[in-house]
Amino acid sequence: MRWLLRILGVLLVLLVVSVAAIWLLSGRAMGARYDVSPEAVTIPTDSAALARGQHLGTAIGKCVDCHGMDLSGQAMALGPVGTFTARNLTSGKGGLGSRTDADWVRSIRHGVAPDGRPLVFMPSRVYAALSNADLGALIAWVKSMPPVDHELPASTVGPIGRVILATSPERLISARLVDHAAPIPAAVPPGPTPEYGRYLAVSGGCTFCHGDNLKGGLKDGPPDTPLSADLTQAGPLGQWTEADFTKALREGVRPDGSNINPFMPWRLARLMTDEEISAVWAYLKTVRG
Ligand code: HEC
Ligand code: HEC
Repeated sequence: MRWLLRILGVLLVLLVVSVAAIWLLSGRAMGARYDVSPEAVTIPTDSAALARGQHLGTAIGKCVDCHGMDLSGQAMALGPVGTFTARNLTSGKGGLGSRTDADWVRSIRHGVAPDGRPLVFMPSRVYAALSNADLGALIAWVKSMPPVDHELPASTVGPIGRVILATSPERLISARLVDHAAPIPAAVPPGPTPEYGRYLAVSGGCTFCHGDNLKGGLKDGPPDTPLSADLTQAGPLGQWTEADFTKALREGVRPDGSNINPFMPWRLARLMTDEEISAVWAYLKTVRG
């Protein structure tokens, strides 16, 4: 009996110590400050650039998946991971308020708020791949959106989110992965080429969810989210045709007729042009796995 109590006592102490360590480490990850002086990016005003920005924000970068079609923001409940609020990006009530163009670049490309705080759950590591021209067009489009009054609560991190922040904070904090001193990514000429396909796969989040090596097996959503699929030639896609791939992205259906889980954002990927889908396919053909 006394031994049992002693063991329980030791376990209790261990539990308290680990919970304290997790709270301390996760708090430190969120409390870090990043001193980033963003690069100058020209924000265009012509209608072609605005259209490009809108396409980048929906079909490619999928900002609207989290921030909503009108960019007025939403709270995303991911169970024990936390409830993350994708901010209202418009100039309405509850929006970001007055911002400089440097603030936009710092948030989107570097994952850092104007006060130096790292953004949590905002996938800036994806958008760090955008060229200056594309980032400028994207910012121009976001700024052109009509104001929407939408006040939202701040994000809250749950116990599993705390564990992630304590053990592998880069999964939730992009600012830890972005190389803030890296040269600005070069613009890649659009066309159905593997080079452009790679650019779209990185800045379009395919590598974010399917892994840098596109081998899949990652899970970054609510508990019922499926693991991401293997997109390399060693996986099922090695047997697919380009028409199968196009159908998967446009209709969310595999060649065997089964449905792809909507956590795979095909409802936005379907808005990619034929040329963009061909480019991503040409790139995937080069990924042996
Ligand atoms: C996976 C969901 C997700 C996607 C996709 C996403 N965001 Fe966010 N974004 C967030 C969350 C969550 C926050 C709040 C982060 C915080 O306050 O810690 C945020 C915050 C922001 C902020 C505010 C930063 C600040 O200074 O407070 C900007 C600007 C922003 N996002 C722009 C974009 C743009 C532009 C895109 C598309 C290119 C995009 N986001 C895509 C989730 C997302
Ligand atoms: C938000 C995360 C996310 C993003 C971004 C994403 N995917 Fe997926 N994708 C998934 C998940 C999860 C699955 C598995 C769905 C299932 O099991 O039904 C999947 C499945 C797929 C499938 C079906 C493959 C199969 O064998 O079942 C294809 C094809 C695919 N994704 C291609 C892409 C491409 C191309 C991109 C970039 C344009 C992309 N995905 C971006 C999460 C994502």
